[in-house]
Amino acid sequence: MNFKPNSPIGIFDSGIGGLSVLRAIRRLMPGESIIYFGDQIHIPYGPRPMEQIGRFSEAITNFLIQQQAKIVVVACNTASAAALKDLRAKFPEMQFVGMEPAVKPAAERTQTGRVGVLATPATFQGALYASVVERFANGVELFQNTCPGLVQQIEQGNLDGKETRQILENALFPMLERNIDTVVLGCTHYPFVIPMIEQIVGENVRVIDPAPAVAKQTNRLLETGRLVNPTSAGGNVKLFTSGNVKALQSLLPILLGESAVVNNAEWIDKTHIRQAHGFTTPTQA
Ligand code: DGL
Repeated sequence: MNFKPNSPIGIFDSGIGGLSVLRAIRRLMPGESIIYFGDQIHIPYGPRPMEQIGRFSEAITNFLIQQQAKIVVVACNTASAAALKDLRAKFPEMQFVGMEPAVKPAAERTQTGRVGVLATPATFQGALYASVVERFANGVELFQNTCPGLVQQIEQGNLDGKETRQILENALFPMLERNIDTVVLGCTHYPFVIPMIEQIVGENVRVIDPAPAVAKQTNRLLETGRLVNPTSAGGNVKLFTSGNVKALQSLLPILLGESAVVNNAEWIDKTHIRQAHGFTTPTQA
């Protein structure tokens, strides 16, 4: 692998969730170009077996490497839980930025000692979450909810409708009854419904979006590897989806506040991803 400062940052998620991380990276590093892959044909990852999410993540990483990515941001808590360790072992030359629910800052700041965590089933089941809780919860009581159906509503662009509100109320009302003062967003889709979450929990509850911290960590790793793009503005964003190009394109102004080129990439035999113009990536690095 030949990493260069002007190569793009690779980012992936099961769908549009990672765009919340992409947005934060754009704000912090506007000169960096970005290649994003959303595996919308397989959404949601949350209820899938870990091993399958691991295989998807490996193939997507290969795809991003073929696209010259200089670093890979796993902008998905679920894929991080299922695959981050294996990805680091399989691609030792590549730097990865992963995600874990922000239990640490929540536990440090809570006054009531009670914190709500919203994430997918796979994230809660993974060893990564167990280790985060063990290392950082520090006696703080955590209330967890998987918000069934929320990822799909957000994928459809339903950021403020009745169904979305219902799912969030079902998750948050019982937590509020237990006197939480902090909510951790442990899924990259959820920052897109922060306005609704804030309406439900009120101003005395802090909502933690991990995206800015992930952007900072990406910047730190690029600096350490001397891979920061010296240009201070004008980076390109190129998006790939394994799902519907037009549907994604139409959501971009709401999700990103800008439009970007969206390309189709298709799965071949569940192990390779092929770009629309016929480019194939192997499973092995
Ligand atoms: N955005 C993903 C995450 O951060 C999960 C969505 C899914 O279940 O596919 O966990």
